[in-house]
Amino acid sequence: MPTVRRSSSTSWDTDDALVAVPADRPADPRLIDRFGRVATDLRVSLTDRCSLRCSYCMPPEGLDWLPTDDVLVDDEVVRLIALAVERLGVDEVRFTGGEPLLRRGLEEIVAATNQLRTWRGEAPKTAVTTNGLGLARRARALAAAGLRRVNVSIDTLDPRRFARITHRDRLPDVLAGLRAAESAGLTPIKLNAVLLRGVNDDEAVPLTRFALAHGYELRFIEQMPLDPQGAWSRTGMVTAAEILRRLGAELTLIPADPATRGAAPAETWLVADGGRRGRVGIVASVTRPFCGDCDRARLTADGQVRNCLFAGGETDLRGLLRAGASDEQIAQAWRGDMWAKRPGHGIDDPSFLQPARPMSAIGG
Ligand code: 5AD
Ligand code: SF4
Repeated sequence: MPTVRRSSSTSWDTDDALVAVPADRPADPRLIDRFGRVATDLRVSLTDRCSLRCSYCMPPEGLDWLPTDDVLVDDEVVRLIALAVERLGVDEVRFTGGEPLLRRGLEEIVAATNQLRTWRGEAPKTAVTTNGLGLARRARALAAAGLRRVNVSIDTLDPRRFARITHRDRLPDVLAGLRAAESAGLTPIKLNAVLLRGVNDDEAVPLTRFALAHGYELRFIEQMPLDPQGAWSRTGMVTAAEILRRLGAELTLIPADPATRGAAPAETWLVADGGRRGRVGIVASVTRPFCGDCDRARLTADGQVRNCLFAGGETDLRGLLRAGASDEQIAQAWRGDMWAKRPGHGIDDPSFLQPARPMSAIGG
């Protein structure tokens, strides 16, 4: 198991600030930005590789993967998570990829994360966002390592469509993974689905019924312009409004959100279908952006921090780490990066530029 490198002091002092911090930034140890947001939810990408090839994410032949030497080793990942939790106020850690189950040390990294304590004295909340392949084999070990929950991506219930979307005939493995996660207690299980026009846009209701039948919480995610092929188009995208129309035509929906939904990106509805009841969410990243409430920070597999999926730049923590920087120096660099966060993703702006990194190399 990687050793958790405890900070020499767990206080919030910032006095060994050897990395320049913007002069206009208040002396707040947390990951704050100019717009009053505080990032407490850290997304950690553990690899950019994946066992599927979802058409909206990567080409069938895959991508140019990150060089192995650039990818953080387990101890390095754990050190950065530890300082995020102990010095920067992070209280939720989500492991992503690519596909995080391709990371051999995942259980050890989860266990080490689970030993950390937030400023409230609690273990950080942990979750894994996975495509479900291999989950059947690893759900138990992950639960034993202290993992709380999983989010499983499933865009279709039709095996042939699954193979068309992901270029792999593996739907049964995803379903087996879901069952294993359930029996390992990695609950509540959330499902993520992306609807693609002319491919699976008729599956909003079947996917919702599947989720209701199993007690899973399904969230539809509007497709964002993050594919390396640059094939995204606003007109081709299936919007939240359209999904809601399709659901409303066959199911009873009642808005479930309080007047403000806080930092939760999904708008949620209570849904009833005959005797079955549950909850369904829609993440309208494009048509109803929630950037104003964003509480996310992102760490890539090669040790770069990004203050947004769509950030124009990133800060190289791997370089600092490998050059022997102290925890506090690294924390300062991270604070400086977050301070520069823009107010929104600007997808609607004529000057919008898709980030140079694809989603699989940032972490979902
Ligand atoms: N837009 C929206 N969601 C995406 N995902 C991957 N690429 C995109 C995109 N361009 C989803 C995956 C998975 C989660 C990690 O992000 O389907 O559920
Ligand atoms: Fe893999 Fe997720 Fe990309 Fe699909 S969307 S290819 S499961 S990283």
